[in-house]
Amino acid sequence: MIKSNKITLFQEEIEVPRLSVNIDHIATLRQARKGAEPEPVAAAVIAELAGAAGIIVHLREDRRHIQDRDLRLLRQTVQTRLNLEMAATDEMQRISLEVKPDIVTLVPEKREELTTEGGLDVAARASALHDYVQRIQNAGIPVSLFVDPDEKQIAASKKTGARWVELHTGAYANAENETKRDREFHKILEAAKLAASLGLRVGAGHGLNYVNVKRIADIPEVEELNIGHSIISHAALVGMERAVREMVDLTSSN
Ligand code: PXP
Repeated sequence: MIKSNKITLFQEEIEVPRLSVNIDHIATLRQARKGAEPEPVAAAVIAELAGAAGIIVHLREDRRHIQDRDLRLLRQTVQTRLNLEMAATDEMQRISLEVKPDIVTLVPEKREELTTEGGLDVAARASALHDYVQRIQNAGIPVSLFVDPDEKQIAASKKTGARWVELHTGAYANAENETKRDREFHKILEAAKLAASLGLRVGAGHGLNYVNVKRIADIPEVEELNIGHSIISHAALVGMERAVREMVDLTSSN
């Protein structure tokens, strides 16, 4: 199991991003029949054994995939780091304070969306978010804000007191050509530098897969990669252990 994201290579200590695996879509498959399988707890155990440094679940307001029961069982079984993604609502704050995940990531949430579409507009509501974030952090749970790689959002995130930002890599991942992908990559690079310079810790995620992850993983300020759909899709065909291990290998090599 990975305990630290520092490795020694050629006598130099270098940082490598840690992979956290989002297992929402294991629950999506189970909810397709509203039955008992596949079991998200089993997927989390296998992901950890395969080298994942964390497990992520998004408890959505409509409970379309992860259920309250999953979150509670995962709290008891995850050995690495449990990251609870959630909307900044009163209900979710109460649940997070009860369950006490290792970190909370605040995301925007719309009922009709297929997945989280954009970053949280922190700049528009920094002072309300400040109080929300503090309440959770005062309970010993660090908060991360999922934001677009945008200077304004990073600066506002700092003002809320949150310890982390997770940079939204969706526009990079979904760019329709290499010129646009390059442009989006540079936004992420600059946002990561700015966030780190302000003392924020930096993660990245959304739309990352086995082909596009390496460039993001190589950004020195990015400490953590949060990946779900591509790993679970690969796992459906080659198995969870192999799918996670292949991503760990891709994100750990220098
Ligand atoms: N990070 C956040 C904040 C997310 O909302 C999601 C999607 O649930 C992810 C990362 C993972 O995205 P993907 O499933 O596209 O890898």
